[in-house]
Amino acid sequence: MLWVKAIHVIFVVAWFAGLFYLPRLFVYHVDTQDTAGHDRFVLMERKLYGLMTIAMIGTWVFGLAMVVMNPGYLQLGWMHAKLTLVIALSGYQGWLKVNLRKFANRTNTRSGRFWRIANEVPAVLLIAIVILVVVKPF
Ligand code: HEM
Repeated sequence: MLWVKAIHVIFVVAWFAGLFYLPRLFVYHVDTQDTAGHDRFVLMERKLYGLMTIAMIGTWVFGLAMVVMNPGYLQLGWMHAKLTLVIALSGYQGWLKVNLRKFANRTNTRSGRFWRIANEVPAVLLIAIVILVVVKPF
């Protein structure tokens, strides 16, 4: 169980590295007009998204493995709240994918300021999820 938890947290850290960095790349991509710069950003965004997806799947697999090993987790209020927020986080990643395609097609219309604000979403979810899982307030 402890090994599974350790691997779970390693995947969580890798996932968040991507969740924080991809919208940052979008901030800089918005200001890039030249073709070589655009193509470089598209490549970086695509590669990062691939790594984030592997990390997200690893987080889910090892998190759910702990639930399967101890189904009692599903009776706990903090776990329900955590799973709700993790589903929201996975949805946020899907939304980033939609926008990654828009950047690649040069159809993004959102500003750098928008992407800076979007970058706060995973930060807020990270704080809430870590408090839920460590403090277990309910
Ligand atoms: C993908 C769905 C997820 C599932 C099913 C899941 C499930 C679990 C379970 C069952 C534990 C053991 C809890 C305990 O014994 O106290 C755990 C630990 C942990 N999870 Fe998740 N988790 C998921 C996603 C996440 C995410 C997205 C984060 C970070 C934002 C996260 C952060 C943590 C941390 C830091 C621990 C260690 C807590 C401790 O030992 O005090 N998990 N997770």
